Amino acid sequence: MKQTLQNKRLLLGITGGIAAYKSPEIVRRLRDAGAEVRVVMTRGAMEFITPLTLQAVSSNRVHSDLLDADAEAAMGHIELARWADAIVVAPVTADALARFAQGRADDLLSTLLRASDAPVLLAPAMNQAMWRDAATQENSQILSQRGYRSIGPADGVQACGDVGAGRMSEPLAIVAAVSDLFEKQTLTGHHVVITAGPTRERIDPVRYLSNFSTGKMGFALAEAAAEAGAKVTLIAGPVNLSTPDRVERIDVISADQMLAVVQQFAATASIFIAAAAVADFRPSAPTDQKIKKTSGIETMQLDLVKNPDILKSVAESEQSLFCVGFAAETENLLAHARAKLARKGLNMIVVNDVSRSDIGFAADDNEVVVITPKDAIKLEKANKRHLARRLIQLIAEQVSPADNSDSG
Ligand code: PMT
Repeated sequence: MKQTLQNKRLLLGITGGIAAYKSPEIVRRLRDAGAEVRVVMTRGAMEFITPLTLQAVSSNRVHSDLLDADAEAAMGHIELARWADAIVVAPVTADALARFAQGRADDLLSTLLRASDAPVLLAPAMNQAMWRDAATQENSQILSQRGYRSIGPADGVQACGDVGAGRMSEPLAIVAAVSDLFEKQTLTGHHVVITAGPTRERIDPVRYLSNFSTGKMGFALAEAAAEAGAKVTLIAGPVNLSTPDRVERIDVISADQMLAVVQQFAATASIFIAAAAVADFRPSAPTDQKIKKTSGIETMQLDLVKNPDILKSVAESEQSLFCVGFAAETENLLAHARAKLARKGLNMIVVNDVSRSDIGFAADDNEVVVITPKDAIKLEKANKRHLARRLIQLIAEQVSPADNSDSG
């Protein structure tokens, strides 16, 4: 199952029909496709299936009551309406269709439909005669004219024994229709692993070696990659930044720890972006006790050993991974960066001038040249978040689209 709904937040509404027994399977399939799912049930739905079942399969509390003070305190109905990237109602009964068409707002589900701007997909399910009924058809048309999409109902034998159009579409078909609500984004189906920030190499319990990286560049890239539809794993050294929305973050301290976590995720990822400023060396023998000053001795020798080159080792071991490095340079930017591109076996390197105080380390802005074996593209000075979006677009143009053919 490909992650076609990666990062998507879906609200599944369930109304009171026998097809509600298939709703847990819809939740499961939506989650398999990468979505986060919250469930809203009408009173009728709860006669057919329990909220506990839906809570178990969605891993989220089920919402059912517009006037539930506890639920409103946790996530109010307007917040829930804004949270959703799309609303799916499956099954939709004839009565629910009528209520939605009338624009009612007297229960939680109908209120959410009023309060949300998200696209809506309806999966009607009812007796074949009720589906053919003129009022039902009219209601269905009204909703379609308002921009609601629908799937089904399908033909076949019904729970009541009748044969005809009225069965709810199968869960996999509903998931495919949900995917179609979203335009394909440039990194849909990709898993991007990003390193950010500095590493700290321990000297003794109170001292370490590190550098001036704040993580701003790497975090901006993680945010931009998630916006472009990718699954994002951000491996961060010690920084003081909050995690971008929809990004999985793993904190590390040293280069050795960063290498171990990168290796764990790189094996299944499709893109690796190394924006971290990894310390090139670490103390060869960090001490357990604080190193004391000795009177009369004015100098101190620190013996260092080379740290592993995370980027080079991953680029060597994961041949199918699209590897993007950063080059922090102070002179001969292009020549040094091209040499790193070749030496580390990369697909792309992004060079920045870290001798300038207005860009590079710690600054809000950056200015870079993006170098591939064929090209060199300058990205003018801009805020790191803006620049990150341009970088992600350039990367997306270079990688092949993820194969989503067996999605749903
Ligand atoms: O974090 P900010 O304050 O926003 O600053 C951003 C930045 C200046 C840190 C960023 O734009 C940047 O340049 N990151 C790379 C810093 C660096 O370590 O460059 P380098 O030229 O020394 O290393 C080349 C590449 O190899 C980098 O992708 C680096 O992550 C990687 N590397 C280096 C050493 C090592 N042991 N392992 C590595 O993976």
